[in-house]
Parts: sequence; C-alpha cells; structure tokens
Amino acid sequence: MGKGLFIAGTDTGVGKTLVACGLATLLKNRGYKVGVMKPAETGCAEKSGQLFPQDAFYLQQASGCQAPLEKICPYSLRAPLAPGMAAAMEKVEIDLSLIASLYNEINSAHDVTLVEGAGGLLVPLLPRYCYANLARAMRLPLLAVAANRLGAINHLLLTLEHASCRGLRVLGYVLNQVASEHSLAAKTNPAALRSLTSVPCLGEIPYIADLENKRPLLGDLFEGRLDLQPLDAIMSRG
Ligand SMILES: Nc1ncnc2c1ncn2[C@@H]1O[C@H](COP(=O)(O)OP(=O)(O)OP(=O)(O)O)[C@@H](O)[C@H]1O
Ligand SMILES: [Mg+2]
Repeated sequence: MGKGLFIAGTDTGVGKTLVACGLATLLKNRGYKVGVMKPAETGCAEKSGQLFPQDAFYLQQASGCQAPLEKICPYSLRAPLAPGMAAAMEKVEIDLSLIASLYNEINSAHDVTLVEGAGGLLVPLLPRYCYANLARAMRLPLLAVAANRLGAINHLLLTLEHASCRGLRVLGYVLNQVASEHSLAAKTNPAALRSLTSVPCLGEIPYIADLENKRPLLGDLFEGRLDLQPLDAIMSRG
C-alpha cells in the first residue's frame, strides 16, 4: 500500500495544482511511482461533449499516474463554485465511498498519491462535509500551499490552525509567487512566517513566466526548490 499527501490550499488559485505537479515530477524523477487524485473539480469546460477536468489532466501528465482521468477525478462539475455547491446545482450526488475506493485503488498501484483539494480546507464537498473532513478520513498528512502576497500570513496561519484543530498533521507549507512583481509583502512574508509558526516552510516557488508552455520543464524548474525530507521520511516508513 502506498503513502499519500493532501495538497491543501489557503484559497483557490494559490498554486495547489502547480505545486502538486512540481512535486509529482520531482518524486517521479527520483524513481517513485506517483499517483494523483483531484476528487472533485469545478468550473470544468466541455471537451468532445464531456466536462474536462483540467487540473486532473495536469496532475496526470506531471505524475505519469497510470489511472484514467475518470478515476483521478470522479466528479467533474460545470459551475465555478465550491464542489458541494456545484454538485447540488447540477444534481450530482457526491459519494464519499467512491472517492475512498478510487483513492485506495490508485494508492495501491503507486508508491505515493498526491490528492489535490479544491480551494481551502473548509470548502464543502457535501452540505456538512468539507475537505478537512476528507483529508482526515483519508488519514493524509497535509502540504499547505499559499500564494505569496499580502494576506498570506492570515490565510496560512488560519489554515494551519484549523488543520491543528481537526487533528490534521501538516508536513509544511509552500509559498508560491503567483504575481510577476514582488510586493513588499511577498518579500517579507517568508521571514514573518518563520517567526509566526513552527510549521516548516518546505519551499518558495518563483513566478514562472509563460507557465503553460513550461509544464514539460517543471522537473527542472522545481529541482532544489522543495525540501523533500519530510516526505522522504513518510515514504521510508513501513
Ligand atoms: N508560480 C507561478 N508562476 C506563474 N503562474 C502561476 C504560478 N502559480 C500559479 N500560477 C498560475 O495561477 C493560476 C492558479 O494556479 P493553480 O491552478 O496551480 O492554483 P490552484 O490553487 O490549483 O487553483 P484551484 O483552486 O482552481 O485548483 C494558474 O493559471 C497558474 O498557471
Ligand atoms: Mg488546482
């Protein structure tokens, strides 16, 4: 049975998919078989008459995960909403046992499985069930991803505090530079966060101009930028 990691954002659009893809590539390049999952994806556009989960596709490409897209992402939804809200609007019933069994299937065929959430930890998947519940039910440790900009301190500390309240273990966080310009906040956040939390920063990802054309190069772009030690420790456990 493989090991897993839940990629938790502090918000939507902070770089969960980018960081998960970069990490997947680094692990793949180290010889691990990497599985991925995006249990629910919203805001999907139609492609060949079907809703296409773009994040799940990027994750599949970066990781080399053997599972088909329908298993990596069992719920592709059209509305650009939280999955629980989009599912209700589209009359789709999200079945947690299906997500669990697909995760187990993917995980048992790979050394490690990276599971990307949607938005942040309190985003609903069902009316009374959010991504923090899912990470807990899957017994996955977290990697938190925050956009390195003004607001990151509050968003990240809230995420870490909520994870702790829920009994979720956080391996560390990654600060991702989503804007081409480095604001004063972006320059000072790393040191500020080091003084405000004992959870380790596992990497700072720079702004990557023309990212869409550089996806095949993510391994090179991420090399040396993420501290894989906490993950290696999980991987080497029996
Ligand atoms: N370091 C970066 N350099 C350049 N562009 C970036 C960077 N990080 C993220 N982006 C861009 O910002 C957007 C959001 O990134 P990404 O899709 O990884 O976020 P997310 O947290 O996975 O979002 P979602 O909540 O929709 O899943 C994407 O268009 C991505 O290409
Ligand atoms: Mg994403």
